[in-house]
Amino acid sequence: MKTFNIALIPGDGIGPEVVAEGVKVLKAIEKLDSSISFTFTMFPWGCEYYIDNGKMMDDDGIDKLKTFDAIYLGAVGYPGVPDHISLWDLLLRIRKEFDQYVNLRPVTLLNQSLTPLKSKMEKDIDFLVIRENSEGEYAGAGERLFKGNQEEVVLQTGVFTRKGTERIIRYAYEEASKSNRTLTSISKGNALNYSMVFWDEVFDEIGKEYPDVKTYSYLVDAASLYFVTDPKKFEVVVTSNLFGDILTDLGAALTGGLGLATGANINPEKDFPSMFEPVHGSAPDIAGKGIANPIAAIWSVSQMLDFFGEKEWGEAVLSCIKDMLKETMQLTPDLGGSASTGEVGDRFVELLNEYADTEIFTN
Ligand code: NAD
Ligand code: IPM
Ligand code: MN
Repeated sequence: MKTFNIALIPGDGIGPEVVAEGVKVLKAIEKLDSSISFTFTMFPWGCEYYIDNGKMMDDDGIDKLKTFDAIYLGAVGYPGVPDHISLWDLLLRIRKEFDQYVNLRPVTLLNQSLTPLKSKMEKDIDFLVIRENSEGEYAGAGERLFKGNQEEVVLQTGVFTRKGTERIIRYAYEEASKSNRTLTSISKGNALNYSMVFWDEVFDEIGKEYPDVKTYSYLVDAASLYFVTDPKKFEVVVTSNLFGDILTDLGAALTGGLGLATGANINPEKDFPSMFEPVHGSAPDIAGKGIANPIAAIWSVSQMLDFFGEKEWGEAVLSCIKDMLKETMQLTPDLGGSASTGEVGDRFVELLNEYADTEIFTN
């Protein structure tokens, strides 16, 4: 029996609503497969916790999380607590402390009806964005001088270390090489004359180790145009932290919206736990209404299962998401349906049971 210990951080707003559905899916898998079990340990951290306790997580929170196989997170941030506090003290802190320097964000159209792009089909929008997740524009380095004066100067410094840049670019080359896909670097060397010039140099240097990988390099402004006009150009994309953040919300828009976009924060060396979460935030505008789309969070479960080496189950979950997307009325309102978050989760479990009957355990 393989046991995977999962730390749950449902967090704020719709976070707990969607995480509950992901847990439902994991529990269903446990029932279907006697060789797997999961333990769930809940951490009530987030903005309410901050209001009650003056901190976003326990003082020894990072130590508490260290021993888990994975962290499953909903969303962090809610009106009432400044975003720079809530995010820096919980989500960004975990990414940094656990050196989760790879952020894997698929931009994959699972059903043609979901894209706003005229005449684009599933095969036209299917790529993986590998976002640098530990430094760059998110280094937290900066200074505010002469606060409040007319001479005020505010610096936000992007930090690109050789180690940090080489490792993410090498990871992306490996991914492209082993899956026989092209690799596109998205940067901005024309204006960011230190950081992105360095990024481009490293991209070319590491490329010499991978003569088999066909590469492209685009400026981020042009790349965002191509995301919309010619998404087929992209197979594996590697980009910096901030560009990756922005481009993957654009990617979500191309593939059905934030209710369908997932991201895995990976520590490839497995020195520390990796974290799985939807790309979206706490969505205060719909929180508490029971209409949040849980499919992004369920897709995160698929990424988690892949990461655990349970590829069959990872694929099963993704395949059921595709089936689910054919049943418009059973989906949440963001996808044109009238189902609640819980109903989507329940229907998903039914589909997974059917899938297991026919596809997995027939022999
Ligand atoms: P958001 O992603 O929460 O919401 C943007 C829009 O997408 C909203 O209209 C929302 O209703 C919709 N949406 C998002 N997820 C959805 C879902 N599952 N189903 C249906 N609709 C969905 O972004 P925001 O409003 O800019 O941010 C709200 C808060 O969340 C802020 O505090 C922000 O800092 C935080 N945030 C956290 C994360 C994270 O924890 N990973 C990510 C992004 C934003
Ligand atoms: C994301 C989010 C975070 C980020 C925020 C909430 C700090 O937007 O995961 O995409 O910028 O990385
Ligand atoms: Mn984002």
